[in-house]
Amino acid sequence: MTDSTPFEIFLAVPPGLEPALAEEVAQLGFPAPVIVAGGVTFQGGWPDVWRANLCLRGATRVLARIGSFRAMHLAQLDKRARKFDWAAVLRPDVPVRVEATCKASKIYHAGAARQRIEKALRETLGVEVLTGPAAEDAPEDMSELRLKVRIEDDLCTFSIDTTGMSLHKRGHKQAMAKAPLRETLAALFLRQCGYDGTEPVVDPMCGSGTFVIEAAEMALDLLPGRARSYAFERLANFDVPSWDTLKKAAPARETPLRFYGSDRDAGAIRAATANAERAGVSGVITFQCHAVSDLQRPDGPPGLVMVNPPYGARIGDRKLLFALYGALGKTLAERFRGWRVGIVTSDPSLAKATALPFLPPAPPVSNGGLKVTLYRTAPLP
Ligand SMILES: C[S@@+](CC[C@H](N)C(=O)[O-])C[C@H]1O[C@@H](n2cnc3c(N)ncnc32)[C@H](O)[C@@H]1O
Repeated sequence: MTDSTPFEIFLAVPPGLEPALAEEVAQLGFPAPVIVAGGVTFQGGWPDVWRANLCLRGATRVLARIGSFRAMHLAQLDKRARKFDWAAVLRPDVPVRVEATCKASKIYHAGAARQRIEKALRETLGVEVLTGPAAEDAPEDMSELRLKVRIEDDLCTFSIDTTGMSLHKRGHKQAMAKAPLRETLAALFLRQCGYDGTEPVVDPMCGSGTFVIEAAEMALDLLPGRARSYAFERLANFDVPSWDTLKKAAPARETPLRFYGSDRDAGAIRAATANAERAGVSGVITFQCHAVSDLQRPDGPPGLVMVNPPYGARIGDRKLLFALYGALGKTLAERFRGWRVGIVTSDPSLAKATALPFLPPAPPVSNGGLKVTLYRTAPLP
């Protein structure tokens, strides 16, 4: 693979959100995105890989499919893996971890396949291969470089995880409240509510501030990945000047819009305020500590109320939550005429307890192992 040959780029997303991500991919000008299970693919080159990591709000990670060949048995896998031009992508001084899967293939033993690739990497490139338990939660700058080997229908495909730590780690959420929503999910839920950075957003149970920070960044045209590092920075073909140019190519803009986050928990408000400051968006967000029943409609044009109330499976007692959802629905119906509402919860009967006029719900999506659903309204009557 040379730098100018397009290859397949796979953008991972939680199942159910593929169409929302495909929309974002097309909007950012990546060519002909295709929806597949668990992601979106398009054909591109390395600058597209860097830009996808830097600019996409909804993708969880970006895989570069760096090559493939047929392999009917382990000896053939071994031989072809040794001929592969690893040096075009991997550096001998950057350790790599190999992960292998086999499906519907004559080579059915993933462990044996992985060992062949590891040996080929050691002996042809001279790179250290990481084995043993993976360091899932290692700090960002220590995240491991991963080569994924997939053997399906006797076709062996190599993909490099160009992202490293998941893209929901934007780099500014160091202060956590209870049960935070992933930034990637928050961004796609905002998109599914028709949010495009041109309206105010209110979150009356904002926790660590995820929705309002994402929305403010969108309004200010701040790139989601501007404050973090990536696995691709340690690949052989990484080009620092081109990357610097890419990061500078999209200057932030100003916005007259305001964003409002509130929560009854003072610790959550402290965390949200610190996160917004780190993200550089505190100038357009007002955080206040109060209960949802004290929420007032902001002056100015209507916009979007986006909220992720507690749900029983993680925090609080489900039965006690019915009253809370009821109070939320009542407050919004009485004070937020003309605003749209998006509610993210794991429990359909809690959503129903708001008595808000929801449109048909989006498919459920996994947020850190728990299924959540987005319930949306049209502008409230
Ligand atoms: C699931 S968490 C929200 C997480 C948030 N989306 C984030 O990403 O960090 C629910 C939040 O609702 C807040 N909360 C619970 N009852 C409330 C009430 N009556 N009024 C305001 N906030 C409330 C909790 O303090 C908690 O921060």
